[in-house]
Amino acid sequence: MDDEPIDKQDILNELEELHKLDHDYADGRILGSMCTEAHPFAKEVYCKFLDTNLGDPGLFKGTKHIEKEVINSIGELLSLDEAYGNIVTGGTEANLMAIRAARNHARKYKGITNGEIIIPESAHFSFKKAADMLNLKIVEAKLDENYKIDVESVKESISDKTVAIVAIAGTTELGLIDPIEEISKIAFENNIYFHVDAAFGGFSIPFLRELGHDLPVFDFSLEGVCSITVDPHKMGLAPIPAGGIIFRCEEYLEVMAVDSPYLTVKTQSTIVGTRLGASSAATYAIMKYLGKKGYSNISQNLMGNTKFFSEGLKELGYEIICEPELNIVAFNHPTMDTNELAEKLENLGWKVSVAKCPVAIRVVLMNHIKRNHLEELLEDLKDIY
Ligand SMILES: Cc1ncc(COP(=O)(O)O)c(C=O)c1O
Repeated sequence: MDDEPIDKQDILNELEELHKLDHDYADGRILGSMCTEAHPFAKEVYCKFLDTNLGDPGLFKGTKHIEKEVINSIGELLSLDEAYGNIVTGGTEANLMAIRAARNHARKYKGITNGEIIIPESAHFSFKKAADMLNLKIVEAKLDENYKIDVESVKESISDKTVAIVAIAGTTELGLIDPIEEISKIAFENNIYFHVDAAFGGFSIPFLRELGHDLPVFDFSLEGVCSITVDPHKMGLAPIPAGGIIFRCEEYLEVMAVDSPYLTVKTQSTIVGTRLGASSAATYAIMKYLGKKGYSNISQNLMGNTKFFSEGLKELGYEIICEPELNIVAFNHPTMDTNELAEKLENLGWKVSVAKCPVAIRVVLMNHIKRNHLEELLEDLKDIY
């Protein structure tokens, strides 16, 4: 830090220069991000709530009410009448809370002290962080030939140490939805906590289903589902950071509660203490502003772009890994090494993401990627071919 204060304009100029090094969503060149530019109205509201702290909700009763309303609205979207949970920093924190709830619940009611969690091979790496922090062992369930969690493998993985089973509604790499109904049954019959990670799919699957897309049910209407992660800062168009964790019952929050002596509330169940109220307010605003109709239109439009892109790839001779269920397309050149293809695209200015399982170029068709960007991308892929 400098000894003397620096002029505001000089600081802004310096920051502006550094900001220029960042990539801009509006260029349509960021192909692998699950986040996108937040809606301008959500950003406006976010700024108004910058000083609110939900870590001390007695001081911010209005903002706490907003968070509860947001949780209820997301819960309603997921077929839950009375929802519990929090708006947190993202999918990682939401998944961590879910696994912590499962672990504590199993410790309290089943006496399990050295627990295991069953996750699909396609699970986001946030579960590895959660297992590490919570001292749990990961048991990976295999994927079937369609890259979805293999139900038999889940059954075989269950032991008397299992504290949670996880399935994904919108996998990070391929955007696929696991057979959640079947896993829910297994979890329910075995009295095991079942968490659904819909960080990506939560803000699109409900709308696409209503529009008639043939997508499986993944929500609280399945009796085995105990919690769901849904991120407003992905398909919800809220500013970063905004993740959502929704629990079926309050008990799951209670098993995580620790005393919070100097605050306006007696206990706290979230992982972080001081936490943003702005994320809740911005999510509240954008959910009201867009409504179901707005989100339906966005999801439908993105699926249109997904179809346009995947069909275009096929016409050029590229190989699609799987028919997209959500707005992600993964593909390869029939003979060229994936990393070589990625490098060629990077050299043409595209910010490419490479999936690991299976190795493929992965494009997440978020709101910032418009038709003209896809046409340009297909032109480049034609030249490369
Ligand atoms: C399915 C899924 N879960 C969790 C996460 C983690 O979310 P975040 O990066 O917001 O912590 C991601 C991120 O892409 C994801 O795709």
